[in-house]
Amino acid sequence: MKLLYTTLIFHSLISTFCTKLPSSFKKCDYKNPNFNQCLTEAIQTALVQLNHPMVGLPSLDPLMVEKFSIGAGTGPVGVQENFQNAKLYGFTKGIVQNADLSLNPSQMHLNFTITMPQFKILAQYQLEGQLLLIPVHGKGDATLLLKNVTGVAFLPLEKYTKKGLTHLRIVDGKVTLPKTDLLYMNFQNRENRSQEFSDMINKVLNDIWQAIFNDVKSGYESFFTEITVSLAGKFFDKVPLSEMLDNVE
Ligand SMILES: *[C@@H]1O[C@H](CO)[C@@H](O)[C@H](O)[C@H]1NC(C)=O
Ligand SMILES: *[C@@H]1O[C@H](CO)[C@@H](O)[C@H](O)[C@H]1NC(C)=O
Ligand SMILES: *[C@@H]1O[C@H](CO)[C@@H](O)[C@H](O)[C@H]1NC(C)=O
Repeated sequence: MKLLYTTLIFHSLISTFCTKLPSSFKKCDYKNPNFNQCLTEAIQTALVQLNHPMVGLPSLDPLMVEKFSIGAGTGPVGVQENFQNAKLYGFTKGIVQNADLSLNPSQMHLNFTITMPQFKILAQYQLEGQLLLIPVHGKGDATLLLKNVTGVAFLPLEKYTKKGLTHLRIVDGKVTLPKTDLLYMNFQNRENRSQEFSDMINKVLNDIWQAIFNDVKSGYESFFTEITVSLAGKFFDKVPLSEMLDNVE
């Protein structure tokens, strides 16, 4: 089995999170019996607003990622897909459900589910290997489109103190993708391969998208894990717990 390899580097705009949240963000009371319901709405409200840059906050639509890789699978995808200069569209249209935060020291975590009706990646790709047993060496522009992709985030947390204030830190987060309705792929070859060849490859890929997706799903899960952990981690690092929630120590 080939090792999975996923890395991504955000553009520096992610470091612009501010310690004070805008008043348009919803602040929930941790002691309220309906806290988790409030938190679900708060995450949803925050996400929707990040469709444009706000003071001290990054825009998530698009989210720029310098590079990432989706590792080869053990089935049809015998190739590591390397992407550069990626623009990711769709986070702010995500539907948030089932947020659950516990600050109980024995089991500190944040869980939530997000379903994105359309998640689009525009990037430059580079492939070196075999796809469906056909040798592929190519680079060019790629479009990847995931429809109704559901991500389930599990973010174990710990508390720490910075400048006298309590902050949260993600210990070892994980995002799984239990459901995706469609993966559309288009790889345009900029080199000397004929358009017919590209069209043929793209057609085959899309005919068997489910097998392709299953083969590299853990790569996509790592990708979404790194994005979620980076974004939420930066947020927790900048914003003290007492600025996010009421009635917390
Ligand atoms: C949070 O997610 C983890 C991992 O999926 C799961 O084991 C745990 O039961 C979840 N907690 C809640 C309260 O849903
Ligand atoms: C995505 O979900 C919506 C709403 O449930 C549904 O109408 C649509 O057909 C789904 N898309 C695909 C590609 O299955
Ligand atoms: C394109 O042509 C060059 C020179 O003939 C060759 O080295 C290269 O492998 C070709 N690339 C592809 C994708 O066929």
